[in-house]
Amino acid sequence: MSASISGLNASNANLAAPGDPIIRKREIQGDVLVGLQKDEEHFLFFKIVDVARFKAALRDYIIAEITTTEEVLSREIQIKAYKASGRRSRLPFVGLNIGFSNDGLSVLLGANGTDGMDASFVAGAGVRAAGLLDPVDANGKPDWLAAFASDTIHGVLLVTGPAASASAAKSPAQKKVDDIVNVLGHSIKLVYRDVGVTRPQRGHEHFGFLDGVSNPGVRGITPRDNPADDNQGVPGQDLLWPGAFVFGYPGQDPNQPFEKPGAPPAMAHPWMADGSYMVFRRLNQFVPEFHNFLQSEGRALGIDPQLVGARMVGRWQSGAPIMIAPLQDDPALGADPKANNNFEFSQDTGERRCPFAAHIRKTYPRDDLEDPNKVGLLNPEGFVQAHRIMRAGIPFGPEVAEDEEKTKHERGLMFVCYQTSIIEQFEFIQISWANATGFPINKVHPDKTPATPGHDPIIGQAKGARAMDEILPNYPMGDTRSTLNMPDAFVKPSAAGYFFVPSISALRNTLAHP
Ligand code: HEM
Repeated sequence: MSASISGLNASNANLAAPGDPIIRKREIQGDVLVGLQKDEEHFLFFKIVDVARFKAALRDYIIAEITTTEEVLSREIQIKAYKASGRRSRLPFVGLNIGFSNDGLSVLLGANGTDGMDASFVAGAGVRAAGLLDPVDANGKPDWLAAFASDTIHGVLLVTGPAASASAAKSPAQKKVDDIVNVLGHSIKLVYRDVGVTRPQRGHEHFGFLDGVSNPGVRGITPRDNPADDNQGVPGQDLLWPGAFVFGYPGQDPNQPFEKPGAPPAMAHPWMADGSYMVFRRLNQFVPEFHNFLQSEGRALGIDPQLVGARMVGRWQSGAPIMIAPLQDDPALGADPKANNNFEFSQDTGERRCPFAAHIRKTYPRDDLEDPNKVGLLNPEGFVQAHRIMRAGIPFGPEVAEDEEKTKHERGLMFVCYQTSIIEQFEFIQISWANATGFPINKVHPDKTPATPGHDPIIGQAKGARAMDEILPNYPMGDTRSTLNMPDAFVKPSAAGYFFVPSISALRNTLAHP
């Protein structure tokens, strides 16, 4: 079991260097910066029906059970020691976190309780769906699971743990869910519940690619592990100011070098300190369709279908980045955390190694916007670092059955990410980068003709057809033009929510206050 989706490593007792902010690890919920340890994650979406009883249950039981950043880091150390002693079973760590929607905070705090908060959070994920180009009906209503959309959602409980042992009827997390539902009793109505599980191919999402390879490092908590660069965790992992993800700390200034502390993100309310916005998206993945597409495109283009997939994602299934391994997989590279993030994009001017629209180049362009004169930004790298997210998702649904030529069983990713601005971070990445065919701007082909990068082939959404430039690599030489036309989206949202994940003090002193 690992929390390594954030790429953090707790082995180093002194995580902060001089000048780093002191992170209030007992205040911040554990999923935000480090990630709860999870083989299994239960998502309980609830509506508060009896406010006084709900607040009492928070005070009397729930708050004390919440897993903090300090606990998650301490568990990482214990897991490491346990593994080092040669044992293979999982330690029975159970995690609990809680978040509230705008409607939920309004119930707890009163009608004006969320004034001034992130406008997308206040509007809610349902209202924002059309702007993200999610499938919506004529009235702009998203095409979500009926059960999820059946009632107002006030909050979400995340309950994590190891998978059930073969002999046990229930997993440790499932037992915890039973306790919580029992304690909350009639104070809530469970609107929708779901569960994510890691796949047998551990760490890989349903299309088969290693996930959780790259997440930002955080000053004050990510150990420095690159002797050549004091501003990085592992090589290639730039260290960001915690305010990018948690309120109450210096943040990232889009106009300054990323190493410089930016102003702390504005807090509409003092109780937001040490809290974070959480974006949840239940993203269905059409796995047989994706693999059939890779096969047929590979045949038509005369290249390895695995290379088609690698150019769509920007990494091979092993996690090896195509910027370093452009034509063939390199599993040892994929598995090496000190090497698999150590690359930039700007030297790949003609997308010979990695298409401009590959998922990882769209969602984190690194130094790709480097020339300030061309892109009209004061500091392109600072700008990119001001639009990052901390991902903490988990797959859901069964493995593809032998005879499943077309998707019969729902499966995909319970996408979760944390940030201090939903508008400038998650939504910016989805709308202004992944969906925007012209991003990154001012790019050219090897023959110097202008390039239109196209859609992020994994998550880019469009009203009509989607396409991506240069599926054929011109590596190391050549200037053959090619386009990947994608008839259908391989990823479709089936539920979504915007939540605020408060600090322990905010829960105790403000939200659960009678
Ligand atoms: C089912 C949907 C998705 C799949 C299958 C998927 C898959 C992947 C894979 C395989 C990677 C590379 C491994 C890694 O760096 O961890 C990755 C990276 C990433 N994804 Fe996704 N992803 C999905 C949804 C999203 C969404 C909705 C966003 C945000 C809008 C997103 C943002 C990112 C970011 C920021 C990275 C890291 C890029 C980097 O730092 O190099 N992904 N994703």
